Amino acid sequence: MRQKVTVVGAGNVGATAAQRVFEGGYADVVLVDIVEGLPQGKALDMLESGPVIGSNSSIIGTNTYEETADSDVVVITSGIARKPGMSRDDLLFTNMDIVGSVTEQVIKYSPNGVIITVTNPLDAMTQHALSVSGFSRTRLFGMAGVLDTARFRTFLAQELNVAVEDVHAYVLGGHGDTMVPLVGSTNVGGIPVSNLIPSDRLNEIVQRTRDGGGEIVSLLKTGSAFYAPSAAVVQMVEAVLFDKHQIVPACVLLDGEYGINNLCVGVPAKLGASGIEEVIDIKLTSEEQKALKQSSEAVEELLEVMNNRNS
Ligand code: APR
Repeated sequence: MRQKVTVVGAGNVGATAAQRVFEGGYADVVLVDIVEGLPQGKALDMLESGPVIGSNSSIIGTNTYEETADSDVVVITSGIARKPGMSRDDLLFTNMDIVGSVTEQVIKYSPNGVIITVTNPLDAMTQHALSVSGFSRTRLFGMAGVLDTARFRTFLAQELNVAVEDVHAYVLGGHGDTMVPLVGSTNVGGIPVSNLIPSDRLNEIVQRTRDGGGEIVSLLKTGSAFYAPSAAVVQMVEAVLFDKHQIVPACVLLDGEYGINNLCVGVPAKLGASGIEEVIDIKLTSEEQKALKQSSEAVEELLEVMNNRNS
């Protein structure tokens, strides 16, 4: 029997993630959205691509959660993107409500699944989903670092004209302007990147990585990135389904690692069938440690806004 993956939110990120999993042919997919007809239409359209691409998986769309029962992995992408005239707090509260209610439904039907959050602001939404679900950090975590790292690796590979697979890097911290690309641990075919690219240029590439999401938004004008985000979350889905024990940057509730407590922030973690198997505590330079602290403070500020609303 195939494993089961539910994707909540049939918008750009969710539908593309569902498509990638369906096309892999290794899992059955349930696509959920609040808009009537949207997940059903997209799922049927994808199903009808099966004979052409050679996938025998099933994919269905629904507006309720019964069909999601006993999912092995649930990806939460539901939410709204920021629109002109909206403050960051407006986005925070709206998505908080959406992610909260979706999480309640998801855990009701899949109490033993692994949940991966994608909705922004990612770190705060992951923390909120974690508290609503009562799950341990092992089974609920967020996707951001894989995407940020993929952007960093893309830019470095372009700069050096090498294969993307040869660029090894990590981007840690919150998924925002304060993210922390670990230049000190980045290597290209085993050679430290600082030996290959002058520091001024490297700083420009780091900045472009930090602005990576904004660069896409300003090009698209009506939405945000979804091809790379969906690829990134599917890498995490596959690490769980195939019990890969893969080390990826993930947004995880920290319990003293990196000197941070009770806060969801991006760190390298080992991912397998049970979810987060281990948080990898790598040695940071003092500059990186400082940047990670700054980044976690930005996440903390958002959480405070959320908590003040609740009180
Ligand atoms: N339940 C289910 N689906 C919902 C709900 C809800 N309560 N509220 C909204 N949705 C759906 C919308 O109907 C929409 O189809 O979530 C979908 C979001 O899709 P898009 O607007 O296309 O947004 P997308 O680009 O997919 O981004 C989704 O991922 O990367 C992040 O910042 C991004 O937070 C955003 C999320």
